[in-house]
Amino acid sequence: MPSEIKKNQTTNTFPPTPDARRYAPATERNRQVIYDVLKNNLPAKGKLLEVASGTGEHAAWIGSRLPAIKWQTSEYDTDLFPSIKAHIKASKAKNITPPVHIDVLQNNWGLSPEEMAQFYDKTDIVTCANMIHIAPWEVAIGLIKGASNFLVQSGLLFIYGPFFQSGTETAPSNIEFDNWLKERDSSWGIRQLDDVEHLAKDHGLFLYKAHTMPANNLFLQFKKTG
Ligand SMILES: C[S@@+](CC[C@H](N)C(=O)[O-])C[C@H]1O[C@@H](n2cnc3c(N)ncnc32)[C@H](O)[C@@H]1O
Repeated sequence: MPSEIKKNQTTNTFPPTPDARRYAPATERNRQVIYDVLKNNLPAKGKLLEVASGTGEHAAWIGSRLPAIKWQTSEYDTDLFPSIKAHIKASKAKNITPPVHIDVLQNNWGLSPEEMAQFYDKTDIVTCANMIHIAPWEVAIGLIKGASNFLVQSGLLFIYGPFFQSGTETAPSNIEFDNWLKERDSSWGIRQLDDVEHLAKDHGLFLYKAHTMPANNLFLQFKKTG
């Protein structure tokens, strides 16, 4: 298996559920480790904006374990809204909010003025998993530029996924996965950590830590400074 992400197609729907919940199998494998990093690195309370909530499983499982964090879900693909809402409902969590539409390629992520007023310079944490390698590089730019706008000073940006690291031997599974991605779309591909770090720095976001995760993934933690 080149990477967990291959199994992370949001169109995979198993087991069938009586409601709108969809399942991306990778989320079951990575939610605990993502939760562990967030639990140990988030402020005691705050507003978190999740970009690309996908099926909504991360929000429901992780968000419900962080009750002092107000977890705002979002998705680009509105077909996934019912799944996100159904997962939130099933979790019974009171701190997770139904999705807003976010397209990171649009100015201000395409948010309405009302949503802007809610999030702009009021967001303590932005988190995004498994997006920037399954999308053109412009999506990474849009994510980082927007996060820098929406975050409060000292706010945190987390990005989860596979990365190539200079000076570190690349896992064969990541090379295979990168080829697999590029075969599907030549603009997709595993990003160089250095490129992401420089891009973030240009937007006032400094890499605080690259948490090592299973299956050759990293969870990047940036802090907005200056
Ligand atoms: C592989 S899924 C990951 C979903 C979820 N974060 C997870 O880890 O299971 C990739 C996600 O990127 C989102 N996406 C793609 N292009 C986007 C864009 N321009 N703006 C925001 N989200 C985008 C897709 O809608 C999808 O939810």
